[in-house]
Amino acid sequence: MALPWRSTALWLLILCFNVQAAVDPSKVRKIPLRSHSLSSPFLDSEISSRFFEFGEDTIVRTDQYIRLTSDRPSQDGWLFSRLPLTATNWQIEVEFKIHGVGNLHGDGMAIWVTEQRASPGSVFGHADKFKGLGIFIDTYKNHRPGTVFPYVSAMLGNGTESYDKDNDNKDTELTGCSARGLRTASVPTKIRLTYYQEDSFRVELQYKAADEWTDCFETGALKLPPVNYLGFSAETGELTDNHDIIQVQSYNMHISEVWKGTESGDRSGKNRKGKGKNYDPNRGRQSGGWAWFFLKLLLLPVIAAGGYVGWTMYRASNRGSRF
Ligand SMILES: *[C@@H]1O[C@H](CO)[C@@H](O)[C@H](O)[C@H]1NC(C)=O
Repeated sequence: MALPWRSTALWLLILCFNVQAAVDPSKVRKIPLRSHSLSSPFLDSEISSRFFEFGEDTIVRTDQYIRLTSDRPSQDGWLFSRLPLTATNWQIEVEFKIHGVGNLHGDGMAIWVTEQRASPGSVFGHADKFKGLGIFIDTYKNHRPGTVFPYVSAMLGNGTESYDKDNDNKDTELTGCSARGLRTASVPTKIRLTYYQEDSFRVELQYKAADEWTDCFETGALKLPPVNYLGFSAETGELTDNHDIIQVQSYNMHISEVWKGTESGDRSGKNRKGKGKNYDPNRGRQSGGWAWFFLKLLLLPVIAAGGYVGWTMYRASNRGSRF
């Protein structure tokens, strides 16, 4: 008898979960994230940066770069944000340069959006069995027949699975792309990561010409751990290269058209002009607000029924114990 009401609620629930199916770029406002951006001179004081930390073989040349590894054997270095990335949707653009004098070179570098931070390890100089996203710019082919290198790929680590180093991420990758010429490009090389929690994760590269972005890959929605740090790492073995970070620009990609959630009733967009008015780093949690509301609505009769049964049984057993 309660069936029609229930199916309506269910339908609404499904609707709520699917509202943000695709992101309209014209509705996105890019808000710079200072805490996750870096540029020369990189440091605030003689030796440290307020927002980033670095270690192992990493060196900083304040007028030029942060060098994760130098063009020498057996180097590894890392650079990590001190604060977690709290934006629900974000974009990270990195200018980097991989270069060296030898004929053979390696091994490459990684960009991390992971729960782990500042933990040296075996995957391009940082910890294996990571939780979160690893994006690898692999300049040396271990064993991956038929694939052109440099090869850029991603892995979504679950905290227990190991990166497939022997086959250059073949067994563990989400997806990837070849970027022939990335290492010897005549223009500044860049990578851009764009993440929309409910929608997609996209990687683009710039290495063919200045201001020309080449699509590397795009995936569907990815679920990241609740706390993530932005990091970079690189390593050399027998083969060597300089792996330099030149600039990092990060943005909170704020979707301004929020008709669901806390801004009740305001669908006109009238109140959306105020500077930073809609800025809310916790929006991700609130976007589930309606879904939660309906879920609770759905659960209410169940809880009420359970409570009634419990109360009746309690009464019955109380009565029983008296006899
Ligand atoms: C992580 O992924 C691996 C391989 O798919 C799987 O065997 C393992 O159970 C997963 N671990 C967790 C904690 O989900």
